[in-house]
Formats: sequence, structure tokens, C-alpha cells
Amino acid sequence: MKISVSGKGGSGKSTLAALLAGEFARKNFNVLVIDSDESNTNLYRLLNIDTMPTPLMEMVGGKQSIQRKIRQVAGFQFLNESITTDKIPDEFIGKKDKINLVVIGKILQSKEGCACPMGSLTKEFLKKLNLRNNEIAITDMEAGIEHFGRGIEEYVDVVIIAVEPSYESINVALKIKELAEQSKARKIFAVINYNRPVNENIKEKIEKMVKGKFGNVFSIPYSEEILNFGIVSEKFSESRDVRESVKGLAVQILREI
Ligand SMILES: Nc1ncnc2c1ncn2[C@@H]1O[C@H](COP(=O)(O)OP(=O)(O)OP(=O)(O)O)[C@@H](O)[C@H]1O
Ligand SMILES: [Mg+2]
Repeated sequence: MKISVSGKGGSGKSTLAALLAGEFARKNFNVLVIDSDESNTNLYRLLNIDTMPTPLMEMVGGKQSIQRKIRQVAGFQFLNESITTDKIPDEFIGKKDKINLVVIGKILQSKEGCACPMGSLTKEFLKKLNLRNNEIAITDMEAGIEHFGRGIEEYVDVVIIAVEPSYESINVALKIKELAEQSKARKIFAVINYNRPVNENIKEKIEKMVKGKFGNVFSIPYSEEILNFGIVSEKFSESRDVRESVKGLAVQILREI
């Protein structure tokens, strides 16, 4: 099963990707997390992996040549073959227990050009990625909706949309839903992520709005641990209520797919 996590900037995509990875690993799946955000670098830390693996972009010759190379089918071995996690060289994979991480690429220099080659690489990678039965891939997308324009969701089974408690975030989520419905994704889940404390009255309003648009509503409670990690970035761990809510989401994903 291939899952993507998208949503407005700062809505909690990376946090949700990491929480879900942990939950599926506890359910005894091998999880491959794909960092497809070209700007933020913190996902490996959310997974408690010591160092960020070398981005795949480096394996295929660096950003400058990637677009040309993607078109050159001959000789482009890695992306030519069906990709299995065990075939990814050690340098390009971070590991922690049952969780593996690959990083697509990061913008490193000014004037190095747009992030399109990274989008192409994510798409190629997901297209060729051949998962075993007990394996789940979770892609942490860049903020917003550009990845839909690139057709990345053609190779994703489940689209998860992180929604923070704001009107704008719900708007972005609705756009993502519309785009996901046009893709090959079989299931769409909206998850309200309380990345700030809100009172019961606002909670009720937000949940009503999301429920009205998405049907089922899942939510992740506001958590001091997560907020604290976001500031000091020490070892990531979640509280019981957060873990329970992610568990409910994971169970539903497995049930419906
Ligand atoms: N449930 C939560 N409770 C408290 N803080 C949270 C929660 N979820 C996320 N945060 C905080 O909100 C911030 C944004 O979260 P995160 O980085 O996961 O969002 P994102 O959507 O991946 O952001 P970006 O668009 O920049 O990639 C982080 O500082 C994180 O620690
Ligand atoms: Mg992120």
C-alpha cells in the first residue's frame, strides 16, 4: 500500500507521516518513509533516525542532469528496474527498527533551479516501487498542491490530508480532495491535526465543517510533546492520546484498503 500525506504548509504532514510510520511498524509492517519535501529536513529526526541519508537525487547524478536522465531510459539502471527497499544502497536509506527512510532531494543552493526534477524523481520512484505484502510506503509531500499537477498521486493508493484548525487549511484540503478524486488514489482521509490548542466550541465547528465535506473525521489532539519536539528537536515520542488517535486512523486505513 502506498500512502501520501499532503496538506497546507505547517498543518502537520511530517508529524502525521512519522506517527503513522510508528503505528504501522508496531503492527509489524515494514515501513518505507519517503521524504518528498525539497525544503524541510527534519523528517529523519521525527523518525529518530540519527542522520539524514544521502538524497536519492545524488544517486541519479544530481539535480542538473536528472530531467534529461529520466528521459534517457537506457542506462538509467536504478529507475529502470522495479525498486524494492532491499535494493536501495545503504548510503541512501536511513533505518530505525522496522522503519526505513529515503529522501528524494533538498534545495541546497540559491539559483539552483526549480524543484521539478525532484517531483519527477518522486513520481518515478513511486511508480517503480514494488512493495512486499508486509510493507507500507508513506510519502511526506511538499506543502500545497503542486505534486498533483505533477501526477505523483497516480502511484498512490491512499491520500491522507492533514488539516490544521484554520479556514485556509480546510480550503486547501478541499482542493486536495478534489484533485485526489481525479487521481488513481482509492481512498482519501482527512485528519484534523490540532497543532495549536483550541477550545471545545471551535473544535466542534471545525469537526462539523470537515465532517460535512469528508464524512469520516479523524483527529490528532494538541500535544505539548509534539510542540516541544518542533522547537528543540530532541528524541521524538508521542503521548498516549496521540498514539490512540493514530491507531484509530491506521486501523481504518487497513480496513478500507
Ligand atoms: N498535534 C500537534 N500538537 C502540537 N504541535 C504540533 C502538532 N502537530 C504538529 N505540531 C507542530 O506544528 C509544526 C508543524 O508540523 P509539521 O512540521 O509536521 O507540519 P508540516 O505540514 O510537515 O509542515 P511543512 O509544510 O513545513 O512541511 C511543528 O512545529 C510541529 O511540532
Ligand atoms: Mg513537513
